[in-house]
Parts: sequence; structure tokens; C-alpha cells
Amino acid sequence: MRVRVFDTPSGLARAAARDVARALTANPHLVLGLPTGRTPIPLYHELARLHGDGRADFRRATTFNLDEFLGLDGRDARSYRAFMQRHLFDHINVPVRRIHFLNGTAGDVPAECDRYERAIRRAGGIDLQLLGLGLNGHIGFNEPARALAARTHCAKLRPATRRANAALFGNRLRDVPRHALSMGMATILHARRIVLIATGASKRACVERMIAGPVTPRVPASFLQLHGNTEVWLDRAAANRLTTRPSAAPSTSPRRPRR
Ligand code: GLP
Repeated sequence: MRVRVFDTPSGLARAAARDVARALTANPHLVLGLPTGRTPIPLYHELARLHGDGRADFRRATTFNLDEFLGLDGRDARSYRAFMQRHLFDHINVPVRRIHFLNGTAGDVPAECDRYERAIRRAGGIDLQLLGLGLNGHIGFNEPARALAARTHCAKLRPATRRANAALFGNRLRDVPRHALSMGMATILHARRIVLIATGASKRACVERMIAGPVTPRVPASFLQLHGNTEVWLDRAAANRLTTRPSAAPSTSPRRPRR
């Protein structure tokens, strides 16, 4: 895992947005995997800004979001679909037919999960998967457990994860769904490149376990250690315990792999 440390969350967001814009220039048909959560919001706003400046064209891009709450329609303001619309899709030019989401109100959940896996395969797989990190080490909604699901599935949310998502539900914990649909670990690990972003001191402990701890289903993000092309981008606060040197300048960015 390559680790980059930035002085501030906004520095990280700017560099990450430029990285996505470069990837789009190199491959206009880029297939992007996208997370929700507070962490990527500044990155999404930067992407919107770059698009407004004519520096990021999503016309031919395709997106797949990681997860969605079970029982919520995409038109529900509390859904992840609506979150993405507010923070990103309303401000860029990905054609709506190439924005992919799990349907939280699907009648047949296993069929919906299969549909998503097939859609990802049909798109040629995910080129660049952006990820956030849950406080308990989850990615998407792959929660710590004795065993992890490989493919897109319905996940039972941990109490801590429901609490972390309560803001979307007016801080009423009882309104936060108990289940969600999520890409599985293999779905995520099949992406050609993964960039996980984490900011703030609250993420320090789980960042350390993800990078330096054993690979264990108790810390789902630790499985990223098995992926040959994963980068972890942190601000100083999240990286505090790590012995990496700050590297905010674009010239120090890790070399992109040859295709
Ligand atoms: C949610 C999402 C995850 C996200 C995590 C972290 O649980 N399902 O994909 O990474 O929250 O969120 P935040 O960035 O707000 O800490």
C-alpha cells in the first residue's frame, strides 16, 4: 500500500480531484467507483469546480456507487443516491444512464445484487475505486465480522455505523436503516486501482490497523493490503501515528502504473 500524507483535508481533496481529472483525460471512458460519507464531500466539490473550469469532462465516464440503504428510494433525500446528486452529480456531466446505484427498494434483493455485479462486469470493471473508511474499519458497508461477503450483498449495519450515519436522518438513530446493500470485498478488490481517503484524528487508529495490522475480517479495510495497486491518502491528523513523511506536492505523487 502506498501512503500519501497531506497537510490538510482541503489539500488532499484538491490533489485527489486533480488525480481523477488526469485519469479522465487519459481515459475518457473511465469507470469510477464512488463512496459516500463526510470525507469525500470536499473532493466532490473540487471535482465540480474542475468541471466548471472545463478541466474535468465526465461525458463518457461511468460511475458505480458502493452502497445504498435498504428500504430507501433514490428519490428519498436521505438516500445515498440523493447525497451523490447533491454533492456531485448535479454539478458535473456524467450522463444519467451511466450513473449506477443499488436500488434500496428492490423487491428481490439477491437479484438486485446480481444485477449490479453484472452491470459492473458489462462496463468492463472498475478502473478507479475511491473509498472512505468507517471508524470500525469498514469499507462500503462491509462491516467487521467473522467472515466477509465476496460479492454485492445485503449487510446488517453495526450500531456504531448506524450512529455515524445518523446525521442523514436528522440525528434520529431509530430512523437509520438496519440494513444496506453494498459491493462486496471481491467486487472492491477487483478494481484496477484503489484510492482510499481518510481525514481527521478520529480515523488514526483504524488507519493504523488497516495499514500495519494483520489482514483480518475484523478490519475489512485491511484486505486492501492484498491489492497490488492501492493508495491510502491521509491528512496529517489521520496519519499521526504513521512514520510517513508529508508529500503534498504533486511532484512526489506515486508513479502511475503502466497499463
Ligand atoms: C459510511 C459509508 C462508507 C464510508 C463511511 C465513512 O458508512 N457506507 O462508504 O466510507 O461511512 O464515512 P465518513 O467519511 O463520514 O467518515
